[in-house]
Order: sequence, then C-alpha cells, then structure tokens
Amino acid sequence: MAIERTLCMIKPDAVGSRKQGAILQHILDDGFELLAMRQLRLSKRIVEAFYAVHTAQPFFGDLVEFMSSGPVVVAALQRESAVARYRALIGTTNPLKAAPGSLRQLYGESIDRNAVHGSDSVENGLVEVSFFFAGVELG
Ligand code: RTP
Ligand code: MG
Repeated sequence: MAIERTLCMIKPDAVGSRKQGAILQHILDDGFELLAMRQLRLSKRIVEAFYAVHTAQPFFGDLVEFMSSGPVVVAALQRESAVARYRALIGTTNPLKAAPGSLRQLYGESIDRNAVHGSDSVENGLVEVSFFFAGVELG
C-alpha cells in the first residue's frame, strides 16, 4: 500500500449539466485529498495528446469531438491506493453497466458520455497529473 496520485477529469457532459459540485462532493466525502483543481476547455490537439493511447481506436474521433465540446474540470487527487480506489468510485466505462452509486452510474448517460475520467494505472496517474499541473501547484 502506498500514497498515490490520480487524475480526475469531470467531462463536458457533467460540467454542462452543472454536476461538477456534486461529483466533487462525492470524491471529498470518500476521503480523497484534493491537491489542485482547475476548469478549462481542452483543444482537440490537447485531447488527442491526452488520449494518445486510443489514437487507432474506432471511437477516437468521437472521443476527441466530445472531450473538446465544452469545459472540463481537472483535479489532482491523492490518498493511499488512490488509482484503484478512484476507479472503483467512478465505476465501469459504460454507465449502463456501472455499479449502483458509482459516479458513472449516477451521472453518466452512455459509454460516450460517461461523466468522469480516471487514471488507469499508478504510472499513468503521475503522468496525467503532471499533464495538467505544475509541481508548484501540488505542494
Ligand atoms: P477514461 O479514460 O475516460 O477514464 O475511460 P476508461 O479508462 O474507462 O476507458 P478507456 O478505454 O480509456 O476509453 C476512453 C473513453 O473512450 C470512450 N470509449 N468508447 N465505444 C466504445 O467502445 C468506447 N470505448 C471507450 C469512453 O468514453 C471512454 O471513457
Ligand atoms: Mg482510460
């Protein structure tokens, strides 16, 4: 067990429906430490870089369009086993299959509009937090 960092992103569907506050409250109530946070609109180029691992996937074009369609909230989270615990909190990629009470079950509409992003490994947690936040912002 180790203290880890993970990146939370509240996606354009959830920001558009004004659920940033509700989602962040779930995260805080669960016990995550919020190190840094920002709302911003991502360009297509930035989304393409962030999701570069999916470049060859058939859904990549739709993903880039959606993620650049409106503002997102990015937040750097920290706690013991943060990556796995945050993935458990958000639920499976498809909200229709996500566990009751998970963020995607509560706030997602479909696999393409699933409300939140979470880093998928300890290594990617560090990479993704650094993608959006400078060291001086993280304490
Ligand atoms: P995320 O990176 O956004 O947290 O989502 P994830 O790890 O649960 O899923 P990932 O495989 O990384 O896919 C990134 C996003 O692409 C969309 N997707 N669509 N139509 C499809 O089969 C499909 N598969 C993935 C989802 O919006 C997913 O969040
Ligand atoms: Mg992913």
